Amino acid sequence: MAFYSKEVMDHFVNPRNVGEIKDADGIGEVGNPVCGDMMTFYIKVSDNKIESVKFKTFGCGAAIAVSSMVSEMAFGKTIEEVMVLANADVAKALGGLPPNKMHCSNLGVDALHKAVANYKSKKKL
Ligand code: FES
Repeated sequence: MAFYSKEVMDHFVNPRNVGEIKDADGIGEVGNPVCGDMMTFYIKVSDNKIESVKFKTFGCGAAIAVSSMVSEMAFGKTIEEVMVLANADVAKALGGLPPNKMHCSNLGVDALHKAVANYKSKKKL
């Protein structure tokens, strides 16, 4: 497992914010066309900030680590700050991913952005 950074291993072994928010303000679900794995993000928004974020990921270890890191990066941020988060930021925060696992990092931010889009459409923003 030497090709995974210690950050990836930490978030894979001990993922943060796993679960579901029953009364979520926004839900975003994405599937990875490369491998068929799935990721769903749930957000609660208060005063334009992410006050709670949870995820469920049916995927590889890298996808779970990415989900966990995305949830930590999103927490407390404004909607605008969340929307400029990029997949590369997440991979960087995880200390990098092996080249054949970079596609796994694409799910996290995409699912989060979809959850925000869902929140905006519900609120008619
Ligand atoms: Fe499917 Fe990583 S192999 S997300």
